[in-house]
Order: sequence, then C-alpha cells, then structure tokens
Amino acid sequence: MKITSAEFVMSNSDVAKCPKHAFPEYAFIGRSNVGKSSLINMLTNRKSLAKTSGRPGKTQLINHFIINNNWYLVDLPGYGYARVSKSSKQTFQKFITNYFEQRRQLVSAFVLVDIRHDPQHIDLEFMQYLGESEIPFGIIFTKADKLKPNAIEKHVNDYCKVLLNTWEELPPYFITSSTKKMGQDAVLDFIEATNKEIAHLRNQ
Ligand code: GTP
Ligand code: MG
Repeated sequence: MKITSAEFVMSNSDVAKCPKHAFPEYAFIGRSNVGKSSLINMLTNRKSLAKTSGRPGKTQLINHFIINNNWYLVDLPGYGYARVSKSSKQTFQKFITNYFEQRRQLVSAFVLVDIRHDPQHIDLEFMQYLGESEIPFGIIFTKADKLKPNAIEKHVNDYCKVLLNTWEELPPYFITSSTKKMGQDAVLDFIEATNKEIAHLRNQ
C-alpha cells in the first residue's frame, strides 16, 4: 500500500473521546521503548509524526493518526514501565484496557516485541488477554537491525516454538527495523488486505 497522507488527529486518555469515524483501526502495544512510535514513523515515511525517545515512557496517551484519509494507526503507551509511579501505572493500565475492550473500530492489535529478547512473561500475558478478549492481533518483531540474519531466524523460530506451547495457531508476525526500513511492505500489505476484507464484509 502506498501512503499518500498521514496526519496526527488527537491524543487522549478516554476511549469515549476517540474519533467517531467508523474507519478501521490498528493499535500498537508493547513494552516501553520497544519501538512502537518509531514504527509508526517508519511505516508512514515520516520522521517525527509520532514522538519517540531513547527514554522509556515517552508515549503516555492514546494517539490517533489518520492514514490515507480512511484508516487509523494508534500509538499507545508502553506497558511494563517501572519508573512511573504506581498510581499513574494503574491509570495507564485502566485506560489501555478500556481502549481494548470498548473501541469497536479496533480491527487488529499489533504486539511489538524486541527481536533480541526471549519471550517475556508480560508480552505473553498480554497476548493471552487479547485472545481471551477475542481481539485479533499480530506480532511485530522490532529492532531486527540489531541481529545478523541467521540470528533473526533463530530468535523468531524459538519465539514461535514458545507460542505454540499455548496457542494452536501462530498469529501473523512481521520482522521489522525502523532504522533500516525493514518490514514496511509486509505490515502495510497486511493492513491493506485487512481493510479490503472489512470493506467487503460491510458491503454485504
Ligand atoms: P514508549 O513510548 O516509551 O512506550 O516507547 P516506544 O515503544 O514508542 O519506543 P520508541 O519508538 O520511542 O523508541 C525507543 C528507542 O528505540 C528510541 O531510542 C528509538 O530510536 C529506538 N528504536 C526504535 N526502533 C528501532 C529500530 O528498529 N532499531 C533500532 N536500532 N532502534 C530503534
Ligand atoms: Mg512511544
């Protein structure tokens, strides 16, 4: 898919105040610093559409970006960030779960995981939560530029093996690097195909 426009729409912490359009939407979730905001910039070919930082905890709200005037990308705060206070951590968690449970426009979540790390409990637990909530999701491995090609393959295979201990089927997954612009077409093609499927279902 070719990105012809990508614009910031709004930030907020209340799912009820998110845009009212019925456009399909895709949300990026994962640990702080995994590269969610960087991936939004990479996918849209924009340098600083979403704000990024070397310090975890940069994104603190639900951020909507409208793409090609007909679908949304959503940047969310990271989970598992230890340096925010306990009460603000709970607030984060509450509005994130409200978002996932109430946002009807959400078509698919993408759980981002750093390709260098073994499966982390918090990520597997979040995938479990999405599964139980019947929210479709894909996995996006980030920072692939940090590994050599054979190590990428090994890490991804090992990750999939762990998933197959609890899941009957693997979710769609993508290998990306925002610095090397790797995986852009694969993620955008997946979104394009999903948007087409939804349009088809809505027209039936
Ligand atoms: P929070 O908003 O804090 O939850 O973080 P985030 O998941 O949005 O991460 P962000 O995109 O802000 O990136 C965190 C750090 O990782 C920054 O220093 C980025 O430059 C770096 N980073 C992100 N993607 C990549 C990548 O593909 N490769 C490399 N080498 N670094 C990356
Ligand atoms: Mg961010």
